[in-house]
This record gives sequence, structure tokens and C-alpha cells, in this order.
Amino acid sequence: MRFSTSAALLALPILSAAESPFEQYKAQFQNFLGSFGAKPAAAAAKEAVKDAAGAAAGAATNAAAAAAHAATGTHPVQAVEVLTLGNWKDALYSNVQAGQTTPDEWWVLVTGRNKTCFGQCGRVESAFNESATLFAKQDKQPHLALLNCDDQPVLCNAWSASTSALWAFQMLPQPATVDIWRRRMNITTTTAQDYVDIYNAERSEKFELYNHDGWFHPFDGPLAKYNLAVPIGYFFWVFNVIPSWVMMIGVSFLSRRMMNRQMGVNNEPARAAAAPAARPRGAAPGDARS
Ligand SMILES: *[C@@H]1O[C@H](CO)[C@@H](O)[C@H](O)[C@H]1NC(C)=O
Ligand SMILES: *[C@@H]1O[C@H](CO)[C@@H](O)[C@H](O)[C@H]1NC(C)=O
Ligand SMILES: *[C@@H]1O[C@H](CO)[C@@H](O)[C@H](O)[C@H]1NC(C)=O
Repeated sequence: MRFSTSAALLALPILSAAESPFEQYKAQFQNFLGSFGAKPAAAAAKEAVKDAAGAAAGAATNAAAAAAHAATGTHPVQAVEVLTLGNWKDALYSNVQAGQTTPDEWWVLVTGRNKTCFGQCGRVESAFNESATLFAKQDKQPHLALLNCDDQPVLCNAWSASTSALWAFQMLPQPATVDIWRRRMNITTTTAQDYVDIYNAERSEKFELYNHDGWFHPFDGPLAKYNLAVPIGYFFWVFNVIPSWVMMIGVSFLSRRMMNRQMGVNNEPARAAAAPAARPRGAAPGDARS
């Protein structure tokens, strides 16, 4: 246990240095490209500047959507957001107004490609994307977002989220707790209409409410409260990424060290450390060489 913790702590700075700036850069870049989708160049450029400054990306999209709604009287089809380790919290809070008492609902489909979903998530994911068109036909609809565990392994591990699950977040102004309803989608049969149907059905009939005390609850769980969710996400991710033969070598090395220590056989580092202390009292027999 002690090994695991210290190994994780050692690994963390290296990993966050090696991985996350690039990941975040990539995410930023994708948001930037995505922001050109349906808006005039001036608005897109303005939003790109806002994005770079770290503003919530959703705001301008919503303004554009509201304008379109006012102009045509129909609901525009919502863009499906893509969540990353860097943007998920801002994205989920992006439409919440101060003092709001009815929750703003976000649906997050946890998906993956070959690595985390064995290539089985294509259907649930494309049906989810298509459901945006169907949702646009009704007044009440959730905001839609994807979390791809092939791209965001750390976030998926931090949430302990498994692929082909649908998470419905009920967002209220901070610091209110966040209700999260979860369910699994059937990877072989799910259609876009299924998403609309389960949205229109009684929530507790189709979903299970995530216990607020659950360890991995992204907002209210103990790990989130103590800011441990992301380190632990990295930790599990490292365990998944390290090839098993490296683990075996590590474990056998450690267990040999522990055996040696228990049997009183000194190993090199221990001897080196013990030598200076031992010298004034006269070198121990084993230290004669050093
Ligand atoms: C995913 O797996 C399928 C089938 O095994 C393969 O055809 C495809 O090329 C793989 N995709 C990637 C990105 O590796
Ligand atoms: C669904 O939409 C997202 C966001 O636009 C996109 O990144 C993803 O590739 C789409 N997935 C499928 C299966 O079309
Ligand atoms: C998905 O739906 C099919 C057809 O209804 C069913 O046979 C299968 O067991 C379902 N899979 C899961 C995981 O529920």
C-alpha cells in the first residue's frame, strides 16, 4: 500500500507535465475549431478570444441559439459538446444563472473507441448525436455532451465512469449539490428515439440516482471534495497504461527487497546509508568493503 501511494505521487508531476498541457491544448484547439461551426466569422473570432481567456464556451452558442429561436420560432439543433479534463466543469455550469432553482440538465454519454469500448460504442454514440435533431422538436430538452474515454482516460478514471453509460447532471448554482442520474445504454439496440423516450419518461423509472456520498461522485463525492479525484484518475490511468510485465518486475523486485529485509540480509542502498553511521562505532563486518 505504501508503495502504491508513493509511486503514484512520484508519477504524478511527471505525468501532468508530459500529458495534460498537450491534452488541454488539443481540447482548446478543438473547441476553437468547433466554434466556427455556425457563426459569422466576427462572432467566432470573438469567441475564440474568449475561449483563450478561459471563458465558458457555451455562452455564445446559447446566445446564437436564442437568437435563432426568436427569429424562426423553431428550436435550433444543439451542438453536442465534447468534455475534457480541462473544460467539463465550466461546460456543465455554463448555462446556470445565479439564483436559479430549477436545475439545468446536461446529458453526458460516456463513450469510447477501441481502447475503452472495444469498438462497441459506435451505435450508442451516433444515436446520441442524432437525438439532438429529435430533441430540437420539443420545448424541453437536455444539453448534450460526450465524454470519450479513449481521449479522456484520466477524467473517466476520476469519475470511475464506464463506457456506454448515460449520466444526467442536474446543475444548480454553486454550492448546491448536484444530482446525477445514471443508466446504461444497450450497445446493440439503442436508437436516437430511445434517448428522447427515456428523457420524456419518469426519471426514477429509467435512471438510478447516484449517491452523493459515492466516492467518485464528480461534484459531491469525498474524492472531489478533497481534490483527489484527478490524482486518482492519473493513478488508475498509469496502472492501466503500464504493461503488465513491468508491473510483475516491479512487484517481484519489491517483494524480494522486503523478504531480504525481513531475513536481515542487507541490500546495497541500505548498506550505503548505514555505513557512515556505523563507522564511528567501528565498521560492522559486512561493511569492510565499502
Ligand atoms: C478498431 O478496431 C477495428 C476492428 O478490430 C479496426 O478495424 C479499426 O481499425 C480499429 N481502429 C483503430 C483506430 O485502431
Ligand atoms: C458525435 O458528435 C461529436 C461532437 O460533435 C463528435 O466528436 C463525434 O465524433 C460524433 N460521433 C459520431 C459517432 O458521429
Ligand atoms: C440489448 O437488447 C437486446 C434486444 O432487446 C437484448 O437481447 C440484450 O440482452 C440487451 N443487452 C443488454 C446489455 O441489456
